[in-house]
Amino acid sequence: MNPLPALSKIRVRLVLSFGLAFLAMAAFGGISYSYFFRMEQKLVFLSQADAMVNMALEARRYEKNYFLYHQDKDFRQALDYLSQYEAMLTNNRQHLLNSLGLSEHKKLAQLADGYRELFREVHRRTGRWSIEEVAPLVENLRSAGKSLIERSEALARSERNHMHRLLKEYRPLLIIFLAGLAGIGALVVYYFLVRLVRPLHTIEEATKVVGKGDFRPIPYDHREDEIGHLIQAFNRMALHLKQNNEQMVQTEKLTALGTLTSGVAHELNNPLNNISTSCQILLEEMPPETAPYHKELLTAIDSQVEKARDIVGSLLEFSRRRKFKLERENLYQLVSESLKLIRGETPVGVKTRIDIPREMAIELDKGHMFQALLNLFMNSFQAMEQGGVLTVRAREIKESNQIELTVDDTGTGIDPEILPQVFDPFFTTKEVGNGTGLGLSITYGVIERHQGRIKVENKETKGCRFIVTLPANRREG
Ligand SMILES: Nc1ncnc2c1ncn2[C@@H]1O[C@H](COP(=O)(O)OP(=O)(O)OP(=O)(O)O)[C@@H](O)[C@H]1O
Ligand SMILES: [Mg+2]
Repeated sequence: MNPLPALSKIRVRLVLSFGLAFLAMAAFGGISYSYFFRMEQKLVFLSQADAMVNMALEARRYEKNYFLYHQDKDFRQALDYLSQYEAMLTNNRQHLLNSLGLSEHKKLAQLADGYRELFREVHRRTGRWSIEEVAPLVENLRSAGKSLIERSEALARSERNHMHRLLKEYRPLLIIFLAGLAGIGALVVYYFLVRLVRPLHTIEEATKVVGKGDFRPIPYDHREDEIGHLIQAFNRMALHLKQNNEQMVQTEKLTALGTLTSGVAHELNNPLNNISTSCQILLEEMPPETAPYHKELLTAIDSQVEKARDIVGSLLEFSRRRKFKLERENLYQLVSESLKLIRGETPVGVKTRIDIPREMAIELDKGHMFQALLNLFMNSFQAMEQGGVLTVRAREIKESNQIELTVDDTGTGIDPEILPQVFDPFFTTKEVGNGTGLGLSITYGVIERHQGRIKVENKETKGCRFIVTLPANRREG
């Protein structure tokens, strides 16, 4: 058997689809982790940036108080908040460098430093210098404080914007992933329902039907996966069961009829013999003056009795289990001998052909097989009264160790309606007295005794074909 292309196997497809889904989930999980990690860092820093803005605001609040009340503690508080602001600048240096760059970081540090220096200067000179003298310094201090707050706010704003950007980037990724996952899910569900569950249901139904004696095959759509194989195996099984069932029915019929007919034939044989003998005696001992009309009647009785005895003879033949002995015979010879035997019965215009390898030999019971073949040939001749060709072929089927013998004619063919009945005992379409309808049932029995099979089909052109398969080599034992 050809190895299946790997992809057509259900197992491989399932592993692939689940593997793909798993990989997609792992990739998405990794990407999501990196996004969340960055967002978390941003959030932490954002709170730091907000805290820096607050420090700067606090410093400025104390600066205002200082100018209102001229108290030292406000000056110290302002510087204290400024130190905290600077500490934050140092602690978050790396993060600030990453998001702001070196120059901006330096700028913030310089601003904080400049603000402190200015404040100190103002504090030192307050009380010693006149207000007009200090005013420009105070003005500088205020604008330095303002810039410090503006820049710190800009920093918090930029971090917030960065967070928004990350969220914006993440959203389409999430949508693509969910859509992909839904797609894979839908495919898997479709595959399970349509390609697995439905055919399995069909097989289940077919199994129930087979159990009831209906051996119809399941339609096979040439799928090459495990389900396809299962359907093929099921159909093979159904075909075998059908053949075995038919054979069993036929055998039962033959057995039942065999018993019946042997009894009837036996009972009829004696009276028929008596009639025949009496008729012979009467004919022989008839006085010369007997009317010719009476003589004709007696001759008619005698010939009808002879016919009846023939029928009884074939009935007995049908029911009798004669000795059966298998011997190796040359098939070509067997066929040509049987054809010779009925040469006298061959209608004018009928040609016979044998297409059998000369050396082909097979184990069979010659007497029985003769009889089986003669019945087939006679039927063909009877169906080709207007002329035709009878062809007998044989070939060896190595794979199944069988020999197939076909008997092919160009006769009337068989009406498809009666095709299933032709092997039945006493089934005949011939007129009363022309056929007993036992020929094919005897042939059937003989082939069966040879552990073979016989079937018939109408040809597409003209006539019908009987196909006999026989074991080519029997094993010893
Ligand atoms: N080669 C054939 N061509 C056409 N019809 C056939 C052929 N062989 C068999 N039949 C049909 O099958 C029927 C049964 O055949 P079978 O040989 O059992 O009986 P028969 O020929 O009618 O009678 P018998 O063989 O007992 O003289 C025939 O009556 C005929 O209708
Ligand atoms: Mg016949």
